[in-house]
Amino acid sequence: MNGKQSLKLAVIPGDGTGPEVTAEALKVLAAVSKLEGFTYETTNFDWGGERYLRTGETLPAGAVAELRRFDAIYLGAVGHPDVKPGILEKGLLLELRFQLDQYINLRPVKLYPGVETPLAGKGPKDIDFVVVRENTEDMYAGVGGWLKKNTPDEVATQTAIYTRKGCERCIRWAFEFTRRRNNPKGKRLTLVAKTNVLTYGHDLWWRAWQDIAKEYPDVEPDYNHVDACCMWMVKNPEHYDVIVTTNMFGDIITDLGAMIQGGLGVAAGGNINPDPGGVSMYEPMGGSAPKYTGQNVINPIAAIGAMSMLLEHSGQPAAAARVMKAIQIVTGTKMKSQSAGKMGYGTREVGELVCENL
Ligand code: IPM
Ligand code: MN
Repeated sequence: MNGKQSLKLAVIPGDGTGPEVTAEALKVLAAVSKLEGFTYETTNFDWGGERYLRTGETLPAGAVAELRRFDAIYLGAVGHPDVKPGILEKGLLLELRFQLDQYINLRPVKLYPGVETPLAGKGPKDIDFVVVRENTEDMYAGVGGWLKKNTPDEVATQTAIYTRKGCERCIRWAFEFTRRRNNPKGKRLTLVAKTNVLTYGHDLWWRAWQDIAKEYPDVEPDYNHVDACCMWMVKNPEHYDVIVTTNMFGDIITDLGAMIQGGLGVAAGGNINPDPGGVSMYEPMGGSAPKYTGQNVINPIAAIGAMSMLLEHSGQPAAAARVMKAIQIVTGTKMKSQSAGKMGYGTREVGELVCENL
């Protein structure tokens, strides 16, 4: 996608508060596109829990082929109280990640000005790193099964799959990303794994890591076991620049990351297929928060942050930077809190404040 063409976006507002926060992200997109002079078109898809309950389908036939025609996908939230856990996760979110081979899950952990962190004595200068999570393998691969199900002798397996290709492309992308990010404090990439216990799968990661690190002498290679990483993220978050990790560990540490950056109201992520022609998907991390639906109280900052990430990775870095700056003006000078209902403003007003500060 070059900066001159019109950006073609697929929008999946989803369930619960998903549509409300998506509306604010689209409002910001409309405003920033005028300021930066680019055009875009959006196509809405009604996929999610409501549609599943109506039709029994998570994704209709041809959905993935249809999505391949877009430059990027924006996802509000999926999750419905009447749908059994696992169905929408597996049938929609993970299905799209896998089918579109979005092998990078990018999760910035950035404390914006004015946002409260539970870490005493830490501020925006200390909490500013990015997690690059592998997004297609590991225990998420769906390999496993039962033996003697529902008997006292039941056995279940859930196999972690790691491939040389899978870890190599993720590690290499993380090195490139660290180089591009060019942290003035020094470029450091930390591999987070558990090589002392997962002596097969994470040994594969470790060997790939050592080989690839040689190609990036300007980046300091660093390693943490995942348990130690959880300690350091709380005690010394300023240590981190970029973290690269496996899918399952990445899932866990990014929720820890979301909390230290001020909660699910601010945390955003991208599911990225960086290959030529790859289609990536951006989402706030908060989920559908059904109890806040329709009350104009949910925080749209994460959703607007996800839009900034989409722009950054879709050929509009200046627009992305403008949105990121506006978000920080609004958190730093306007909002009272990042929690739903306590922001001092409604969902729509926060969206408008971001637009006014672009
Ligand atoms: C995330 C979420 C998903 C995951 C769930 C909803 C399947 O927790 O994006 O981190 O585990 O990857
Ligand atoms: Mn998660």
